[in-house]
Amino acid sequence: MKPFKKRGKRIREKDASLVFQFVFISLVGIWLLFFLPFHLSFLLSTTWELEELQAHFISKYGLVALCISLVLTAACAFVYYRYCYNHFKQLIHRQKLAKMVLENSWYETKQVTQESFFKDIPSNKSKEKISHFPKIYYRFEKGLFYIQVEITLGKFQEPLLNLETKLESGLYCELVSKELRDSYVEYTLFYDMIANRISIDEVIAQDGSLKLMESFYWEYDKLPHMLIAGGTGGGKSYFILTLIEALLKTDAKLYILDPKNADLADLATVMPDVYYKKEDMTACIDQFYEDMMKRNEEMKQMPNYKTGENYAYLGLPARFLIFDEYTSFMEMVGKESVKVMSKLKQIVMLGRQSGFFLILACQRPDAKYLGDGIRDQFNFRVGLGRISELGYGMLFGSDVQKQFFLKQIKGRGYVDKGDNVISEFYTPFVPKGHDFLKEIGKLTN
Ligand SMILES: Nc1ncnc2c1ncn2[C@@H]1O[C@H](COP(=O)(O)OP(=O)(O)OP(=O)(O)O)[C@@H](O)[C@H]1O
Ligand SMILES: [Mg+2]
Repeated sequence: MKPFKKRGKRIREKDASLVFQFVFISLVGIWLLFFLPFHLSFLLSTTWELEELQAHFISKYGLVALCISLVLTAACAFVYYRYCYNHFKQLIHRQKLAKMVLENSWYETKQVTQESFFKDIPSNKSKEKISHFPKIYYRFEKGLFYIQVEITLGKFQEPLLNLETKLESGLYCELVSKELRDSYVEYTLFYDMIANRISIDEVIAQDGSLKLMESFYWEYDKLPHMLIAGGTGGGKSYFILTLIEALLKTDAKLYILDPKNADLADLATVMPDVYYKKEDMTACIDQFYEDMMKRNEEMKQMPNYKTGENYAYLGLPARFLIFDEYTSFMEMVGKESVKVMSKLKQIVMLGRQSGFFLILACQRPDAKYLGDGIRDQFNFRVGLGRISELGYGMLFGSDVQKQFFLKQIKGRGYVDKGDNVISEFYTPFVPKGHDFLKEIGKLTN
C-alpha cells in the first residue's frame, strides 16, 4: 500500500539541470512553431539544393520571418515568466533538490563496464552509475509546498530526516510542519510568505480577533497580550500605530504610553489618554489596574454573568494598554519599577476575562523588567528586524530549534501567535503616503 495518494513529482538525478532543459526545449519548440509556417510550402517543394536553400533563407523574406518568430517567442517567454512564475519557481525548487542530493552524495553507485562501440573489441573501461537515488517527492498546492522523503533506514537517513534547515535557507521558505508518517517524512513549507502580507487598510478587528496577514489572526480574546521586540528601525512603532488604527475602529478604549516622547506621543494631538511623562504614565498604569479590578468585581454582579464567559459576552468594551519603549520606561522609573512590574503582572494574569490587554514593545525583552513569569503570560510574541541570538531566546524561549534569518525588509520578523509554532511574519504594509495622525484623528472625532 502506498503511504500517500498525492505525492507529487519524483526528484531524479537528471533534474539537476531541469531549468536549462525546460527553457531550452520550450524556447526551441515555440520558436519552431512560429518559424516553420513561414517556410512550409517552400520546404515541401524544395529539392534540398544548397543554392536554393541559401536563396530562400538568406533573403529579405527569410530575415523578416526569422525576426517575427523570434519576437513572438520572446513574447511567449515574457507572458510565461509574468503569469506562470509559480511554475518556474517549482522547477527551480526541483532542480535545487536534485542538486542537494548529488552535491551531498546522498546516493549509492555501482561500477558498470562500458561496452565498446565495436562489439568485437573487448572493453575494460568501467563507469560509475547511480544505483539508488533517494525517493523524494515535490508537490505544490495552494501556496504551500510539500516535500516527502522516503525513510529507508539506509546510510543517508540521518540527513534526509533533518532537512529543515537546508530547505528553509536553500529554497528561501518557511517550515510550517514536519510530520513523520509510515515510511515517509513530510516537510510542509510556506512558499513566499511575503505574498501573505496585507496592507494597513485590510487590518480588521472583529469578534476579539485581529487580522494581521492573509489567514493569520491575533485572537486577543483567547490568547491575550502582545510582546513586540526588535532592533531599531525594525518597524515596532509602525506596527503599534497600525494596531491602534485598527483597534480604534472597534469600541475598544486605548491608553498609550511613549516614554521616549517619539512617534506615539504625537498622537496626543488627536486622541485622549496618550502619555509620555513619568508621573502621568505611572498614574495611567495604576488607573488601568484599578479599572481592571473594578470590572472583575462588577462583572460578577451583572445579571447575565456566567462563569467562564468574558467581557464581550456581557457587552463590555475591551481596553488596551499600549506601551512603546518599555525598557526605557523601566529605567526611567528606577526603584519604582518593582511596583510597576507587580501591577503589570496582575494585568497580564487577570486581564483576559475582563478584557484588559497589554501590548508591549521593547528592543530586547530582558528578564530584568519582564521577570517573575510576566514574559510567559504574553501569548502573542513578535520579533522584528535585527535581533541577536540571545534576544530570540528571550522572546521565544531559549530551547527553540528554529533558525532565524535577517532580511532587509521593514516590518519583517518572526511570530509565535500562542501555539508555540514560530513562523515568518510581515507587519501590515503601510504605503508611503499614509498619514497616521490624520487617519487616527478621523476615527477619534
Ligand atoms: N509596515 C511597514 N510598512 C512600510 N514601512 C515600514 C513599515 N514598518 C516600518 N517601516 C519603515 O521603517 C521605518 C522604521 O520603523 P519604526 O519607526 O516603526 O521602527 P522601530 O522598530 O520603532 O525603531 P526604533 O526602535 O528606533 O523606535 C519607518 O519609518 C518606515 O519608513
Ligand atoms: Mg519606535
